[in-house]
Amino acid sequence: MNPNKALWEKGDFTRIAGTMRESGEALVAQLGVSKGMKVMDLGCGDGTTALPEARLGADVLGVDIARNLVEAGNQRARQAGLANLRFQEGDASNLEGIADASFDLVVSIFGAMFAPRPFDVASEMVRVTRDGGRVVMGNWIPGDPTLVAQILKISSAYSPPPPEGFVSPMTWGIEGDVIERFVAAGAAESDISFVRETFTFRAPTPPSDFLSTFRHYYGPTMNAFEAAEANGRADELFGELQVLFDAQNTATDGSTSIPATYLLVTVQL
Ligand SMILES: C[S@@+](CC[C@H](N)C(=O)[O-])C[C@H]1O[C@@H](n2cnc3c(N)ncnc32)[C@H](O)[C@@H]1O
Repeated sequence: MNPNKALWEKGDFTRIAGTMRESGEALVAQLGVSKGMKVMDLGCGDGTTALPEARLGADVLGVDIARNLVEAGNQRARQAGLANLRFQEGDASNLEGIADASFDLVVSIFGAMFAPRPFDVASEMVRVTRDGGRVVMGNWIPGDPTLVAQILKISSAYSPPPPEGFVSPMTWGIEGDVIERFVAAGAAESDISFVRETFTFRAPTPPSDFLSTFRHYYGPTMNAFEAAEANGRADELFGELQVLFDAQNTATDGSTSIPATYLLVTVQL
């Protein structure tokens, strides 16, 4: 089994995605999506950004490597009555079966960054976008002090070392690396722009519950806990993450509201 696919099918990302809807919608509102526009949402999960894109009237294809998330996305599209939105399985590193220049806009929010072979990922996103179209990525930033960058950093310290040649997904949060990948894919450096934005995770329950959701349903954190348990360090990992979640929470009413900084990348083609 492809380890990238196994990682994301292992848990149930819909449990985290439920806390991301508001920011997902706000992000889509600033992308200039309009009726009839052809949009691919890559690494779409269960459609946090794909549903708002479709509600704006775009013709949306959600592509994700995880079979369970594609099913969840199609179910959400059906329930919302969105005939202009469908989800299918696919790999951002190799979008075989998808014709060149098929989309006006390719969006990937915390999605394609997790695919292996980042140069292939950039090349595939550019290939399926038409001339004059855009690629928009949201990527977590290495070393950033906010939630997700820190979860991934702490989790990796408890996980076995990655295989030889593994390129960290977090390198998609380094502007120089992003430029190098898209220029290699044929984009002009002057057409690549960056802005730092905030995404807020909101849950009606306290941060300790939100942390448990990560522990039991978010592939990278599940793997870290499995490795930590094998070494008798699970409590230590939970404690470290608990300090992080509590410190980042801005809600004062017993709920969770955690803002996290990310890099919004726009490539004009
Ligand atoms: C952190 S989740 C984000 C999901 C969604 N974009 C959102 O904002 O809710 C990462 C997503 O990327 C998907 N993914 C990981 N590797 C992928 C790949 N190689 N090709 C396509 N999707 C991938 C995962 O299955 C998962 O749905």
